[in-house]
Amino acid sequence: MTKKLYISTYGCQMNVYDSARMADIMAPLGYSLTEEPADADMAILNTCHIREKASEKTFSELGRLRKFRSARQSRDDSDMIIAVAGCVAQAEGDEIMKRAPYVNMVFGPQSYHLLPQMVAEANRGVGRILETDFPVEPKFDHLPDTAIDTNLSAFLTVQEGCDKFCAFCVVPYTRGAEFSRPARAITDEAKRMIAGGTREITLLGQNVNAYHGADADGEPVSLARLIKDLAELDGLDRLRYTTSHPLEMTEELCQAHRDVDILMPYLHLPVQAGSDRILAAMNRRHTASDYRHIIEKLRKYRPDLALSGDFIVGFPGETDADFEATLQLVRDVGYSQAYSFKYSPRPGTPAAGLASEMVPEPVKSERLARLQALLNEQQIAYNREFVGREIDVLLEREGKRDGQLVGRSPYMQSVFVPSPAHRIGRIATVIVQEGNANSLRGELKPGSVADAA
Ligand code: 5AD
Ligand code: SF4
Repeated sequence: MTKKLYISTYGCQMNVYDSARMADIMAPLGYSLTEEPADADMAILNTCHIREKASEKTFSELGRLRKFRSARQSRDDSDMIIAVAGCVAQAEGDEIMKRAPYVNMVFGPQSYHLLPQMVAEANRGVGRILETDFPVEPKFDHLPDTAIDTNLSAFLTVQEGCDKFCAFCVVPYTRGAEFSRPARAITDEAKRMIAGGTREITLLGQNVNAYHGADADGEPVSLARLIKDLAELDGLDRLRYTTSHPLEMTEELCQAHRDVDILMPYLHLPVQAGSDRILAAMNRRHTASDYRHIIEKLRKYRPDLALSGDFIVGFPGETDADFEATLQLVRDVGYSQAYSFKYSPRPGTPAAGLASEMVPEPVKSERLARLQALLNEQQIAYNREFVGREIDVLLEREGKRDGQLVGRSPYMQSVFVPSPAHRIGRIATVIVQEGNANSLRGELKPGSVADAA
């Protein structure tokens, strides 16, 4: 008998990857995915702790699930297992167990390979389960081989956790210490993904460029080396990696952007702020000019590299002059897209203790609006530059309109084209006709993509 599994995913790509792995692990137990929480025999909230009010949001979502469960119980006596996973579970597991006594299980990002056991225990009515240790044996060793992403464009986790301890960030506490998977496990997984139909792989890690997994002899392998090895695999057309830290942008990795043809010309390299004083207070361990030099070097090797970043405005102690330095950095670098946030304190992080230096909310809002206006302007200008040009697009899926497909350019833009659906999975040349804020529109270049399978 099939059971229904509902997974609600918040936050980063790593959580998207983890949710997919949880679904894979649950499939042999007879669970298939549903979009409808009301129908679910089991519901998992895969939470994110980075955003503001993360725990309140989790509790309100849990309240909603609890209602669905009651409705099921009064309708036909069926039950629902309610689980909280991810970074809020890791950081606030005890609190969730206390405040939401109807939750069956709470487990952190390093424990989801234990799902079959936990579900069996829940079904036996063993009691509630809290699993927030960082198991010494990495979960990757316990994931079934079938638990892989075989989408056309798919994610592959190569590294998890972070030892950087930026003063604002919870990741070192929720995802734990830096851990790199062995190189062989990654190339094997990539081969299986390609055999399953994947053509583009994005290597994932909270600090992906700190990757240093072991080879067969136990020697460390760099991310650049790993990228070169993966680029040799037959059938793989595109590689990307995210998210990186400036400190680990080694010469070798910068050069890979020149030397590895399937490494796409797009890099997400967060800088967070443009003032050295604030960068130091953030414990970023680099200056704005270090960052500028890295960008210069990358562009020397790959002149068309598209850059994306993350920014925080209103970090404790940030003055108008500090904020101006962030705007100036953005003007100097030029981003094709970026993410920007108002600083908000995360319990347990060093910056949360700087209460006396907190920037007032209206000042933060005003700075964010100005930064976003500048970033939007850059993004639109960037996309408009493509009008009239030809770019390669991996056609991934149907668009919202009939007869329309959408895919990504090498530079990570979403590109919409009129095309029959059977071309999904192909890399086509598109002549760009329109460059908008968030996407490009164009037409397939005649003859650029063969029709026969
Ligand atoms: N406040 C605001 N933004 C934050 N980020 C991480 N922690 C915080 C915080 N406490 C942002 C950073 C990071 C991105 C994933 O989220 O910019 O790079
Ligand atoms: Fe958080 Fe900094 Fe580590 Fe990124 S590098 S995950 S921002 S601590």
